[in-house]
Amino acid sequence: MTTILITLYNKLCYWIPGFRKLSRKWMYQAMGHYIKQDDWKFMNYGYACLIGSENPAALDQMDDENRLSYQLYNHLVAEIELADKHVLEVGSGRGGGASMIKKYHKPKKMVGLDFSRAAIKLCKRNHVADGLEFIEGDAENIPFDAESFDVVINVESSHCYSSMKTFLNEVKKVLKPGGHFLFTDFRKPYEIDELERLIFASGLEVITKREITLNVLKALDEDHDRRMQTIVQHVPKPFISQFYEFAGVRDSIIYRQLEAGEMLYLSYSMRKAF
Ligand SMILES: C[S@@+](CC[C@H](N)C(=O)[O-])C[C@H]1O[C@@H](n2cnc3c(N)ncnc32)[C@H](O)[C@@H]1O
Repeated sequence: MTTILITLYNKLCYWIPGFRKLSRKWMYQAMGHYIKQDDWKFMNYGYACLIGSENPAALDQMDDENRLSYQLYNHLVAEIELADKHVLEVGSGRGGGASMIKKYHKPKKMVGLDFSRAAIKLCKRNHVADGLEFIEGDAENIPFDAESFDVVINVESSHCYSSMKTFLNEVKKVLKPGGHFLFTDFRKPYEIDELERLIFASGLEVITKREITLNVLKALDEDHDRRMQTIVQHVPKPFISQFYEFAGVRDSIIYRQLEAGEMLYLSYSMRKAF
């Protein structure tokens, strides 16, 4: 039954972008409001290093439990110097990414933006550091002046937006000339041509593109038991099966789609021209 409802919901989201955006806003609001666990800091599928390809991020022991989720950020920023820069994350969720980027990459200013007021409230309570801010706002109407940031980061959030074209134009607006846009999310294979057409039309230049589906699947495998345990402990009973889907545990629809190549996880590094 859950599978049928989720498939129907996904179809509605695909065909009606306004419904997708509103329903996700409602969902993230509800999650921030009802599940206040301070130690739940990330909401992404994670990134595991494949053997022999790259080294895991060097982290303090206290951050190790969030390693896989943080590595989805770290693989994006690994080749960009963030020290002393002004960095914006759009769709910052529960703030773990913005806060760990601030801690490990030391930008001068790190701003997390999210349209869920409840998530922003949690972030303001749980992540306090000099130069780290969280602000409520919409990815499709970014509330900052033109050319305010050196780097914009966007992790597993854009699939919720009603217009990728509007979002890309907003990113381009707030980036300084020569600034970087670091972007990662999942898409169905048939959606990728359109995504890349929009990126090209935005004028942002793609510097690197990677398909990281195997890294994400490996992370979901490694994190499976922890995810199951957390859901059973913290999620109200009537929502548990929907949460298994949301969390991408083994046998969830998204896990099976990633495994079958019916969903791909991509990452891009882009630059705004000087
Ligand atoms: C799957 S979560 C990822 C959160 C975070 N990036 C992470 O990796 O933990 C997606 C986030 O995007 C936010 N989001 C979705 N649509 C948005 C929009 N139009 N404007 C701002 N934030 C949005 C949601 O509220 C949610 O916090």
